[in-house]
Amino acid sequence: MTDSATTPAPREVRLASCPVGWPTPENFELATSEVPALADGQIRVRNVVMSVDPYMRGRMSAAKSYAAPYEVGAAMGGGAVGVVEESRAEGFAAGDHVLHAEGWREVAVLDASSARVVDTSSVPASAYLGVLGMTGLTAYAGLTRVAAMKPGDVVFVSGAAGAVGSVVGQLAKALGASKVIGSAGSAEKVRHVVEDLGFDEAFNYKDGPVSEQLRAAAPDGIDVYFDNVGGEHLEAAIGSLNLGGRIAVCGMISVYNDTEPAPGPRNLARLIQTRGRIEGFLVGDHYDLASEYFGRAAGWLADGSLSSRETFVDGIDHAVDAFLGVLRGENTGKMLVRL
Ligand SMILES: NC(=O)c1ccc[n+]([C@@H]2O[C@H](COP(=O)([O-])OP(=O)(O)OC[C@H]3O[C@@H](n4cnc5c(N)ncnc54)[C@H](OP(=O)(O)O)[C@@H]3O)[C@@H](O)[C@H]2O)c1
Repeated sequence: MTDSATTPAPREVRLASCPVGWPTPENFELATSEVPALADGQIRVRNVVMSVDPYMRGRMSAAKSYAAPYEVGAAMGGGAVGVVEESRAEGFAAGDHVLHAEGWREVAVLDASSARVVDTSSVPASAYLGVLGMTGLTAYAGLTRVAAMKPGDVVFVSGAAGAVGSVVGQLAKALGASKVIGSAGSAEKVRHVVEDLGFDEAFNYKDGPVSEQLRAAAPDGIDVYFDNVGGEHLEAAIGSLNLGGRIAVCGMISVYNDTEPAPGPRNLARLIQTRGRIEGFLVGDHYDLASEYFGRAAGWLADGSLSSRETFVDGIDHAVDAFLGVLRGENTGKMLVRL
């Protein structure tokens, strides 16, 4: 136990109730953590940075999903990097940085078998939650394997200024796309993806119908659509799909807070004439690509063809704001909480 008269008790965020529609701060509770003594094979970690992700919205409901639901009254979880304070596990020493899944808390006690030591000497700890973590691998697997992007393809990605989308667009350029188009929710994000990240074109989906803006950006159609948002974007992408076009469905954030099922795309018949393909995927099925991606990403980061922006919120007491902020689009790049 680390608690003493001078060290404040560590805190955690618990799910207080399951939201209906948009989550509110009342669905969460900030509480003091119990920090048990270590058993053999365990480590105690003081988290330095934690991830907040759209998929966590799905875990706040008891409905069947691909990730286990959060339990009401219990601490939430998610990606985090922290420093080992005490270890009873071989291969883990005090001072090591570790990546693990016990986020949403300041201090975690966990089985070392579920943590991985990461090297923070040349990249910041936060990179392992973003471009060099699950986020980056999602972009790579979705683009190269699911959408089978080829040099010369015209690639469209929604959520372009977000964590996954910003990597998708840059990877598409690095892999030889003839044109990369992004959509995002503000003029500043549109500027960012074109001027800072090297997208060829981008538009603000709030400025007018997505189908019209996409047709103007890609008058000859698109070969690949990387879908992060669903809804109107998906229908527009199907409408602009070229012969043999591929759509990788990564996420559908536009419907995560819906209380009624959203209408499906009305133009699916277009897949017949284009011989188009739509395929959903989960990053967890593509970990075999991890070493390939991390190796290539290191090279792209070094030569400047890949860069990553992060939006930081400070303190566990603001973690809920950060999470709600992701759902509302308050982030550019990866949204993270510094602890
Ligand atoms: N399949 C997988 O294995 C996997 C893995 C990771 C992530 N994902 C999915 O990938 C997507 C992106 O995740 P991320 O972590 O990179 O999040 P992110 O893009 O960094 O953040 C979410 C972004 O979604 C945008 N957004 C919110 N509501 C929207 C709406 N109604 N229409 C259009 N855009 C909207 C916001 O940006 P704007 O300001 O542009 O609106 C917001 O910044 C999510 O759908 C997530 O669930 C899937």
